[in-house]
Amino acid sequence: MSYNVNEKGYYGEFGGAFIPEMLYPNVEELRQNYLKITAEPAFQAEFDDLLKEYVGRPTPLYFAKRLSEQYNTKIYLKREDLCHTGAHKINNTIGQIILAKRLGKTRIIAETGAGQHGVATATVCALMGLECIVYMGEVDIKRQAPNVARMKMLGAEVRPAKSGSKTLKDATNEAIRDWINNPVDTYYIIGSVVGPHPYPDMVARFQSVISKEIKEQLLEKEGRENPDYVIACVGGGSNAAGTYYHFLDNEDVTIIAVEAAGLGVDSGESAATSALGKVGVIHGSKTLLMQTTDGQITEPYSISAGLDYPGVGPMHANLFATGRAKFISITDAQAMDWGIKLSQMEGLIPAIESAHAFAVLDEMKFKPEDIVVINLSGRGDKDLNTYIDYFKL
Ligand SMILES: Cc1ncc(COP(=O)(O)O)c(C=O)c1O
Repeated sequence: MSYNVNEKGYYGEFGGAFIPEMLYPNVEELRQNYLKITAEPAFQAEFDDLLKEYVGRPTPLYFAKRLSEQYNTKIYLKREDLCHTGAHKINNTIGQIILAKRLGKTRIIAETGAGQHGVATATVCALMGLECIVYMGEVDIKRQAPNVARMKMLGAEVRPAKSGSKTLKDATNEAIRDWINNPVDTYYIIGSVVGPHPYPDMVARFQSVISKEIKEQLLEKEGRENPDYVIACVGGGSNAAGTYYHFLDNEDVTIIAVEAAGLGVDSGESAATSALGKVGVIHGSKTLLMQTTDGQITEPYSISAGLDYPGVGPMHANLFATGRAKFISITDAQAMDWGIKLSQMEGLIPAIESAHAFAVLDEMKFKPEDIVVINLSGRGDKDLNTYIDYFKL
């Protein structure tokens, strides 16, 4: 069985491109060109060079000694928090901005939740001298204020999304609306493995550098390429897709996906898509999503803006449906406690999104000889205000 996309843009029954007719030319242009352009040696050279010299890759695979001792297993952290701009998101925006330039686009739009993708997009637009407009939910604009300021400093315009829960889903709706209205000069840089085909596959490929490096680094450190477990948080699922990518067909590697339970899976205030979701279409893709019995999307909730999304990308829906990945939901309270714990045990202040992944250590039992890799998808600078309010720091 393949866990990757097929030529029609599907992962099992999930994926596809469910788009309004007016978006068809844009998405089709991308579909016809993304594999061709990204395979060109000149593209690869520019991508690799920017990842190395600008983003700071490869990011370290850090052996977390104190955590490993406490949990009596070998825990490695993939340090995406050390990427320029503070999270994995920039791996993808570097790839997409080069592609946008090759396609002759001059105006860039993006959606953002936690603001990390918005900052990463504003950054690459500054780098390439392109106009940048970022849509962001009003609620997220408030809770991720430092990232809003960063985007503005970088020269981007931040446009508030005022509908629905005023979070990521609503920002994505606004970005899609903009793209429909500006089909010729505009390129939409989607920030996760969501949206119509080819976006989920394209974003997963750009993020797959994470698992490529893990393999190389583990071989050097442990004499084997494959860990026993790879663990990552899932909002739309891009850091997770990158962390799993080169392990998808290695069935000896257990894949663990961590979703946000918010106030609790059954509390009505949650973003635990695999636990609560049913098959439906969101943002151009057939996937699992949280919805009412008559198919209206349920407003999600999580304290972390980056996980506050009512769906998951189609790759993850398929990993769930086939049982290839184990899905675990972690509450706000568990994640916030890990924000403090990781800070004080390893000197690493995590993004709240990433903190969710660590809580798996309390939910599962690992053997002393197991190698467990956790993707530390981002650093916590952007979340300082949330940490301050929550812990009265
Ligand atoms: C640090 C960090 N981790 C994870 C996520 C979730 O996104 P994804 O599931 O696409 O990795 C975000 C989103 O903004 C983020 O900022």
